[in-house]
Amino acid sequence: MANVLVLNGPNLNRLGSREPDIYGHATHDDLAAACRETAAELGMTVDVRQTNDEAELIAWLHEAADTSTAVVLNPAAFTHYSYAVRDACAMLTAPLIEVHLSNPAAREEFRHTSVVSGVATGTIAGLGLDSYRLALRAVAGLLGR
Ligand code: DQA
Repeated sequence: MANVLVLNGPNLNRLGSREPDIYGHATHDDLAAACRETAAELGMTVDVRQTNDEAELIAWLHEAADTSTAVVLNPAAFTHYSYAVRDACAMLTAPLIEVHLSNPAAREEFRHTSVVSGVATGTIAGLGLDSYRLALRAVAGLLGR
């Protein structure tokens, strides 16, 4: 059974209380439950992790590279400036779907740049938890499931 790493970057542990007008009321636990439910429907498993630490996120991406594991990644603010996260993403061999809860293109100018998109298989943004559900469906399709 395919396992997918769902990796969430800084401040996403604050979902539920963080700017709910932008990010909604679902918590990170709700997000993890939604991912587990969708993965089960697709005959996959997920490992959902969150970190506020760039080095830890990069170590998880190295793990995915070493094990050829598909990744659904919300790099959060790292999206916009972390060349180190981008370089780690570039080493992945299995599908990488970049996700965002909000639509960064409709927000402040600094959010209009993603340094990750250029090395992602695809990007899904602006659909709240559905961004993750659709990303898992995309991974299942890409893995031929
Ligand atoms: C985000 C969008 C980013 O611009 C922001 O820094 C985040 C969350 C999203 O999911 O909408 O932390 O990635």
